[in-house]
Order: sequence, then C-alpha cells, then structure tokens
Amino acid sequence: MSGAARGAFISFEGIDGSGKSTQARRLADHLRASGRDVVLTREPGGSPGAEDIRRLVLEGDPDRWSAETEILLFTAARRDHLEKTIRPALAAGKVVITDRFADSTRLYQGITRGDLRGVVDRLHSLMIGVEPDLTFIVDMDPAEGLRRALARRGAEERFESFGEALQVRMRDGFLALAAEFPARCVVIDGARSVETVAADIAAVAARRLA
Ligand SMILES: Nc1ncnc2c1ncn2[C@@H]1O[C@H](COP(=O)(O)OP(=O)(O)OP(=O)(O)O)[C@@H](O)[C@H]1O
Ligand SMILES: [Mg+2]
Repeated sequence: MSGAARGAFISFEGIDGSGKSTQARRLADHLRASGRDVVLTREPGGSPGAEDIRRLVLEGDPDRWSAETEILLFTAARRDHLEKTIRPALAAGKVVITDRFADSTRLYQGITRGDLRGVVDRLHSLMIGVEPDLTFIVDMDPAEGLRRALARRGAEERFESFGEALQVRMRDGFLALAAEFPARCVVIDGARSVETVAADIAAVAARRLA
C-alpha cells in the first residue's frame, strides 16, 4: 500500500502534574522519528487567538470569571484552535497531538462549580463537534500529581490553587470519562518512570494508527 498516511487526532488528559505535557512531547518525538508529520499543540491555546484567551483564563484571581463565562472562554479558545490549527493539520494528513482538549472542560468547568456538564456538552456539540480519535488519560495518585505540579508552579496557577480535594474529584472524573467514552479513551498508569509510560503510550498509538 502507498499514499499519504491518514491524519489522526490524539489528546492527552488527566489531573495536574500527571505527566500529560511530558508524554505528549515524548509521543510527538517518537512519531516524528518514525516518519510521521506531527503537530504538537495544547489547550487552552494552540493558535495565536486561543493563546490570548489562555492568559485570560489561567492567570489572575480564582474568582475572576463565573463558571458560565469560563466555559464560553474555553469554548471560544477551542473553536479558534480547531479552525486555525487542528483542522488544517488533519486535512494535510498530519498527526495532531493536543495536551488537553474538551474532556478537561467537561471536568474542570463541568463539575467544579455546580453541575454544568450539560452546558459544556451542548456548547461542544454546537461549536466544536469533534472528538479525538484517541485519548490518553494519564492516571495517578492525586497527592503525587499535585506535588509534581506545585514543584514547577509558575504564573498560571489559577486552577492549581484550588487544591488537593479538587485533584481527588478530578481523578475520579477522568476515570469516569474513560468509562463513558471507551472507544477512544485509554487509561495509562502515570506513576511509573517517564520511559516506561512513554513506551506504553507508543505501543497503544502504533496499534491505533495502523
Ligand atoms: N513519570 C514521571 N515520573 C516522575 N516525574 C515526572 C513524570 N512525568 C512527569 N514528571 C515531572 O512532573 C512534573 C509534571 O509533569 P508534566 O508537566 O508533564 O505534567 P502535566 O500533566 O502536563 O501537568 P499540568 O496539568 O500541570 O500541565 C514535571 O516536572 C515533570 O518533569
Ligand atoms: Mg502540562
């Protein structure tokens, strides 16, 4: 068989500090080494307009936005990311790897301040309408994740300052999402060495991209 490889859309999800960014980078490097054209991107952000919105949602007072306004901002950023970065790359046959996507909004904006999951889902189907082909849920102990995240803490601390109780709920929430979307979600044990986790993820990706 010859011809251009089909594009593929892969997301990394999981609690703060679980290793999403580390593993997204590792998978991008691995796939590039095997000859794939890869776009590594992240949310919120991933396009110039969405990166502007990133600063609005990640920096400042934790009470800066109402839950509803925050959902609109995240969805606006995602729409721009989709239009400017994700769709063009997939159309060109590239592999798109995103560090967080809609599952993060389903959890962080959907359940942290009241039950707004229905609002998140309605806006998603109205304005986004796509899911990744494959989602890696990097799972680990919430206290360890928080410890890792705080160790490299910077200006973008608006959500991390919500604390460990939130991490516990989010971990359960990500596992529930994996059960809700079993066709695309694969839970990965993130409490192992970077190399071991990366090898596990590369093996799953190879099977799914074949
Ligand atoms: N398997 C691992 N073992 C030990 N440390 C790790 C592992 N994976 C990542 N780390 C370290 O833990 C910290 C958090 O990792 P990383 O930034 O990849 O997590 P993240 O899920 O992207 O976090 P956030 O949600 O806050 O962006 C980093 O300092 C990273 O070097
Ligand atoms: Mg990260």
